[in-house]
Amino acid sequence: MCGIIGIIGKGEVSPLIVEALKRLEYRGYDSAGVATLDNGGIERRRAQGKLDNLVGTINAAPLSGTIGIGHTRWATHGVPNEINAHPHATDKVAIVHNGIIENFQSLRAEVTAAGRRLSSQTDTEVVAHLITLYLDQGLSPQKACAKAFARLEGAFALGIIFAGRHDLMIAARRGSPLAIGFGDGEMFLGSDALALAPLTKKIMYLEDGDWAVLHPDGAEVFDEDNAPVTREVRLTALSGATVGKGGYRHFMLKEIYEQPQVIGDTLQGYINAAERTLTIPGLPFDPTAISKLTIIACGTSYYAGLVAKYWFEKVARVPVEVDVASEFRYRGALMPEGGAAIFISQSGETADTLAALRYARAQGQHILSVVNVPESTIARESDATLLTRAGPEVGVASTKAFTTQLVVLACLAIVTAKARGAIDHDDEARLMNALVEVPARAAEVLNHDERLRALAESVSEARDVLYLGRGSSYPIALEGALKLKEISYIHAEGYAAGEMKHGPIALIDESVPVIVIAPSDDLFDKTASNMQEVIARGGRVIFLSDGPGAQKLGDLAAATVALPHVDPFVAPILYAIPAQLLAYHVAVIKGTDVDQPRNLAKSVTVE
Ligand code: F6R
Repeated sequence: MCGIIGIIGKGEVSPLIVEALKRLEYRGYDSAGVATLDNGGIERRRAQGKLDNLVGTINAAPLSGTIGIGHTRWATHGVPNEINAHPHATDKVAIVHNGIIENFQSLRAEVTAAGRRLSSQTDTEVVAHLITLYLDQGLSPQKACAKAFARLEGAFALGIIFAGRHDLMIAARRGSPLAIGFGDGEMFLGSDALALAPLTKKIMYLEDGDWAVLHPDGAEVFDEDNAPVTREVRLTALSGATVGKGGYRHFMLKEIYEQPQVIGDTLQGYINAAERTLTIPGLPFDPTAISKLTIIACGTSYYAGLVAKYWFEKVARVPVEVDVASEFRYRGALMPEGGAAIFISQSGETADTLAALRYARAQGQHILSVVNVPESTIARESDATLLTRAGPEVGVASTKAFTTQLVVLACLAIVTAKARGAIDHDDEARLMNALVEVPARAAEVLNHDERLRALAESVSEARDVLYLGRGSSYPIALEGALKLKEISYIHAEGYAAGEMKHGPIALIDESVPVIVIAPSDDLFDKTASNMQEVIARGGRVIFLSDGPGAQKLGDLAAATVALPHVDPFVAPILYAIPAQLLAYHVAVIKGTDVDQPRNLAKSVTVE
């Protein structure tokens, strides 16, 4: 989280830095700031809240200078106010940081004892003072930084400028991503290639432990032992063009509506619809040889992994373990040498997922990732990557990334099932036909938007909402609840429908809407019984089912939405959409910041 940009330019850099921060705002929007060197002295503008506030501040008091750094913050240490906003500075250095300095308390005590006065509550400011102490001891900027970096524990990406040095910027990466861009007599630093792409296409990704000295005409890179190293400079395919809302009120709504298109685009990467063939070349493991699959991800991507577990176990007959990355990475999981592990991530930068990937790599696993950002760290560190073609997802709540992840995982499950002989040709054809129809069925689901908007009125008045599902609808219940809570701030929980009677049913009364997700599948009657149990206790059920389901039980529910009747295999992809729309409309009714909900960020690069 937190976005970093740095520019050694030929002209005024402040407007370019602000533009780049717009492309980085998805990383955090608690505060933003810019520092430049004006006649050799450090000048800063910072503002609490969204980037627009900083733009106002800079318009009122413009910043001049040909070298500068900028930051958009997702607060870790210290409340999100102006004093805690980056860049942090002394009279000698200004610094921007993404990550967490875990030993900042002891360093803070040390620099304070040495006479430095800190003004913020952040872990970052201490680094500025530590470097300043070393500069005061007569060390060069390079030596002062190298000495300071060696003292830091935790994860960080840093960008640093020095008073009086228009030609020098120092960067460091440990844990948090950082890229260097090469221009013509100009140099750039950024949290990702997306931030740099409109400025230059020549990108170098720093590796873990690297630090770099940037001059107007290039960069020297050192590893964690301070030995000079060479890192590949590649041409990025990213354009970094700012994506618009296309006439929609929010990015989230636009992205929900894009799903028929992007699901089709993603399918096209793997399925030849005319010949009805499905191929996934370059798998890093032999699907016939695997004894188990491990799937790791966070948040919504984790729920995609949970759906995939049902598919792989039921259709491909492969045992699957799914875990959230933050738990998996620390539990010393046993992974037999040569096993297969799948990492799912929209951003490809999630710190916990990346750490789990590195753990799996150290355990000798074959690493496959499902990501939406092709040049992301997770993609670069995998043996093979299956791309979702969702396009840029700007709304913080993941929507089209989720359904396209499901599409990729469904394709992989079919290919695995076929390779292992778990399905015959007819089954394969049936499943593929069902998948090929998903874009059209998704478009039909969107026709229920108005109805879901009307249902959102009553849900918006609730304090708690429950989502129930069985089988592959259970992860959709979890995802529906996550969508609702993250953008409407209403407490919501997803439960396996069969678990209700083991505790949660105590919550049921007429004030708790219960969203039941029940496509007509082999578990429909079981979910129906659980729904009856809820209704018997006065629960107000919103029933998401299909034509046959609605006919059987629609009269019992307070409200029913009858979605298209599809093969149960693809139902989770389609049933995610009404859950997204319901959450969206509830949030709009409640007047929350739908695209940038409080306390969240799009890319979670701290653990
Ligand atoms: C919820 C949401 C998050 C992300 C999670 C993982 O709507 O977007 O739960 O799914 O932070 O992010 P990625 O997929 O980028 O690894």
